[in-house]
Amino acid sequence: MDAKTNTKSATLTVDGKSFELPIHSGTVGPDVIDIGKLYAQSGMFTYDPGFTSTGSCQSKITYIDGDAGILEYRGYPIEQLAEKGDFLETCYLLLYGELPTAKQKADFDKLVTNHTMVHDQMNRFFTGFRRDAHPMAVMVASVGALAAFYHDSTDVNDAKQREIASIRMIAKIPTLAAMAYKYTIGQPFVYPTNSLDFAANFMKMCFAVPCEEYKVNPVLAKALDKIFTLHADHEQNASTSTVRIAGSSGANPFACIAAGIACLWGPAHGGANEAALQMLAEIGTVDKIPEFIAKVKDKNSSVRLMGFGHRVYKNYDPRAKLMQQACHEVLKETGHGGDEMLAVAMELEKIALSDQYFIDRKLYPNVDFYSGITLKAMGFPTSMFTVLFAVARTVGWISQWSEMIGDPQQKIGRPRQLYTGAARRDYVDITKRG
Ligand code: SDX
Repeated sequence: MDAKTNTKSATLTVDGKSFELPIHSGTVGPDVIDIGKLYAQSGMFTYDPGFTSTGSCQSKITYIDGDAGILEYRGYPIEQLAEKGDFLETCYLLLYGELPTAKQKADFDKLVTNHTMVHDQMNRFFTGFRRDAHPMAVMVASVGALAAFYHDSTDVNDAKQREIASIRMIAKIPTLAAMAYKYTIGQPFVYPTNSLDFAANFMKMCFAVPCEEYKVNPVLAKALDKIFTLHADHEQNASTSTVRIAGSSGANPFACIAAGIACLWGPAHGGANEAALQMLAEIGTVDKIPEFIAKVKDKNSSVRLMGFGHRVYKNYDPRAKLMQQACHEVLKETGHGGDEMLAVAMELEKIALSDQYFIDRKLYPNVDFYSGITLKAMGFPTSMFTVLFAVARTVGWISQWSEMIGDPQQKIGRPRQLYTGAARRDYVDITKRG
């Protein structure tokens, strides 16, 4: 459904002048006050740094209720999709809005599989990087470079080209991610294997070596597939908003996704899984937790509990529970690495959830708290954690980008400001300055 304009409206009164602002309702969730004409009517802007109270668009893709801990993709609860479906089914759902029939799913899997290879000249593109380059830096560059190889799917106004670019993005991002990893460890790139599903193929491209047969561990592949589903989309988060605003200028989809990857890299966002694992390693043992918590509560320290807190979830992040389950499955299957860290993580969670400081600030574990332990136990280095987040989130970014391009209301994103700089003044010749 589209937004319904309410009969009721909001009245803003400033200096005795009143402005009627329409109120729109969606399917579910908070109504919105439409301020689109406020500046024209009042000569004033609204002010909302960080957009804590601002809806930037209408969207039919993902719904979050931060207080109830709800996350739904196209109306389907994340718990059901993660348990009953697979990542490519979620990709189909996010892209096209409905769960696929068996035939549609088979065709879609085949289509994506047949686009997993990258242009072979991309290999040479990688050799320009230092071996110790952070894989996220390599991802920003290599994904942006796709526009140099796939000119035939960069016309954003052509729906067919938009669809091809979307499929290419979803299909090639794991291949580029695996190449970024292989390059940093000095191992040869492994080509995609079409007989494997999305997660299994990604694991093989990361961990296989030419000298021996690589057997994918089905338990780990299934856990990774679930982790991709959990990270696929998340409403108008920082990186999705970055993709939307880049796309609003008409930039090609590859450049927009590269912008999203750059934003995701930040430790306050997708970089938190890497930072959370580093934090757990720094704490080391359960007996060191109280000392760390004291640092977090000390206003003079900038120490934060990485993997905790969220702009929207002021209750448990539903993904964190599912991540914790995946973490247990993977640690049981791998039987090594992470038990001590998991013990620290679970004790840290227990302490934080009972500590008034965190309760008052509604700080709960988020999706990043358990993902680091899980991915480390699977054999990924911490520098790859945010890369895996980007592999999963690409479908969300490209679905939101496509929805934005197709939105008749969309125009170039151009926020205004409250100017607090110097008042107008005349130029002073350098010979006359202080
Ligand atoms: C992701 O938006 C999304 O949907 C993102 C994401 C997605 O799927 O796309 O869910 C993925 O980014 C998850 C979040 C990963 N980030 C982290 O785990 C980093 C640690 N968390 C924080 O930096 C923080 O919680 C944010 C950035 C996630 C949210 O910040 P807010 O809502 O802007 O909170 P805030 O900075 O206004 O904090 C409110 C209070 C402050 O204390 P007071 O000034 O009121 O005394 O809570 C404190 C903050 O200092 N606080 C924390 C904290 N997070 C907030 N204190 C300690 N540890 C933390 N993690």
